[in-house]
Amino acid sequence: CGIIGYIGQKDTQQVLTTGLSKLEYRGYDSVGIAVVNGESVQVEKAKGRLDVLQDKLDQAPLSGNVGIGHTRWATHGEPSNENSHPHTDGNKEFAVVHNGIIENYLDIKRELKQKGYTFISETDSEVISHLFSDLYDGDMLSTIQKVVKRLEGAYALGIVSEHDPDRLYAVRQASPLIIGAGDGETLISSDIPAVLEHTRDIFILEDGEMAVLTKDDVTLLETETGVELNRDLFRADWDMEQAEKNGYDHFMLKEIHEQPTALQKTMTGRFNKEQKSVEFDELQWSTQQVEQWDKITIVACGTAYHAGLIGKHVIEELTRIPVDVEVASEFRYRRPIVNEKTLVIVVSQSGETADTLAALRQSQHLGAQVLAITNVVGSSIAREADKVLLTMAGPEIAVASTKAYTTQVLTFYLLGIYLAERKQSISKEYQDQLLESIAEIPNKMEEILEHSSSIRWYSESIKDANSVFFIGRGVDFPVSLEGSLKLKEISYIHSEAYAAGELKHGTLALIEEGTPIIALITQEEVSEKMLGNIKEVKARGAQVLGIAGEEKMNIWEYVDECCYIPNTLSIMTPLLTVIPLQLISYYTSLALGNDVDKPRNLAKSVTVE
Ligand code: G6P
Repeated sequence: CGIIGYIGQKDTQQVLTTGLSKLEYRGYDSVGIAVVNGESVQVEKAKGRLDVLQDKLDQAPLSGNVGIGHTRWATHGEPSNENSHPHTDGNKEFAVVHNGIIENYLDIKRELKQKGYTFISETDSEVISHLFSDLYDGDMLSTIQKVVKRLEGAYALGIVSEHDPDRLYAVRQASPLIIGAGDGETLISSDIPAVLEHTRDIFILEDGEMAVLTKDDVTLLETETGVELNRDLFRADWDMEQAEKNGYDHFMLKEIHEQPTALQKTMTGRFNKEQKSVEFDELQWSTQQVEQWDKITIVACGTAYHAGLIGKHVIEELTRIPVDVEVASEFRYRRPIVNEKTLVIVVSQSGETADTLAALRQSQHLGAQVLAITNVVGSSIAREADKVLLTMAGPEIAVASTKAYTTQVLTFYLLGIYLAERKQSISKEYQDQLLESIAEIPNKMEEILEHSSSIRWYSESIKDANSVFFIGRGVDFPVSLEGSLKLKEISYIHSEAYAAGELKHGTLALIEEGTPIIALITQEEVSEKMLGNIKEVKARGAQVLGIAGEEKMNIWEYVDECCYIPNTLSIMTPLLTVIPLQLISYYTSLALGNDVDKPRNLAKSVTVE
């Protein structure tokens, strides 16, 4: 979900709706705003996208100098007018927007119902607005403290009230919230891009903190005690242009094409070309420090998890340190074997994924040092990790991750070399070769992108398929998983990725006349085995697209269609093979007329568990 709040002289309704449009990637199944006009709180909400709300507002605009807005991704209660935010109490004296989950909401709801409060939604959030009504003592600040004391769980809150029409309140506990301090205006938001149009001066609210905003001032307080806090402003140098589509039809296509630049930026300053070594000023680890770890555990969700699988392959190959990779939502609910001898690496584009953040905290609690690979400066994960390697992908807007993924994968290569250098586990010659080949990747990506139209036609041939299978061996397998996820996410076609050697243990039963198979064949040591697997599926009628390095021109004889990637070291192919897979999913989604950037049921940043 996304939160925005404004107080100032501009048209509040317009600031809120434009801010919400920048936050839609956080969720977009319903939206709403509340504006305080003189002494009353007016609310307008809508199920669906922002334009539905905009239509309503065009008919009956809301005016006032302070307001809050929310774009929702349903967790408790289906998308509907009633369930959308802002929530109010029965008399509309208070309006609240909430991001997170109130775990004890049923208890509170029961208690308030007994007292006679009427609930109109199924959400956990509505209890907050009624609590305000129940606990209001004539002073907003102390009322907020009383309300918050009752809440268990995660919440970022934006609050306005007719009792205090010149102030906007914000509270943070385990859900992201930032404050923008402009000139004669202040804002709150879940994320920085939504306020950039108005100000670049940002305060980042921490857990257990609240803020009181007037149009001219921001006061930060410790929520529980009310003690005032001093906090340095953070200057966001982001370019607004970066968040626009830049001439492409969709953010996803733009972001696919931005990958060579994003990779270049991620390498910059970390790569000593003369000495052919990797330098991470952020880490400064000695050989001794690296030797203290007897294993590495990588934890992440979704696409970032797939980047972690490549990370395992690379780090084990280069350093011989054993690496586990686990999805955060599993890791955190087990008793993971992690201690001071483990380096835990959490990977997260947004830096806000709730399960990944919880895994980070749990690992630290167990004594492990946590390194975060993330794309967002100032995100919760970036702030809480012991060390941070930033990916320089820039804002990623499309829900289906592309450039964030490849910059994460690149970071794993650099990290693998960095660790190997300290462990002296690879020869200098091999290290030189690796770095030379990394340096060439952006240009090679560019080459593939220049021929993207030759990949487009393939989408036509799979767009009506019931199922698509991806197969690969070695490091081709995790790339297949990512290719399959991309296709599922935006084309809604069922697809699965299989380690090619596993086919005969089950999936082969699903292959029939015409079943599309995308086979990655880049790993020399297993290429004969791959060709064997391709023969197996062809014998059952499959239509095979082979993706291979240019040196493998002979795969024509084995497959129905081919797509070649420029030659590179075999360990490095994941950075190239994923590009045609991203393009295939993009063009398939396009051919099916889907909403490429905002696929159904998915959100860019999942800050609920
Ligand atoms: C959501 C997104 C995915 C993403 C995952 C992890 O599910 O839709 O694209 O891979 O969250 O997000 P993170 O920000 O932690 O990388």
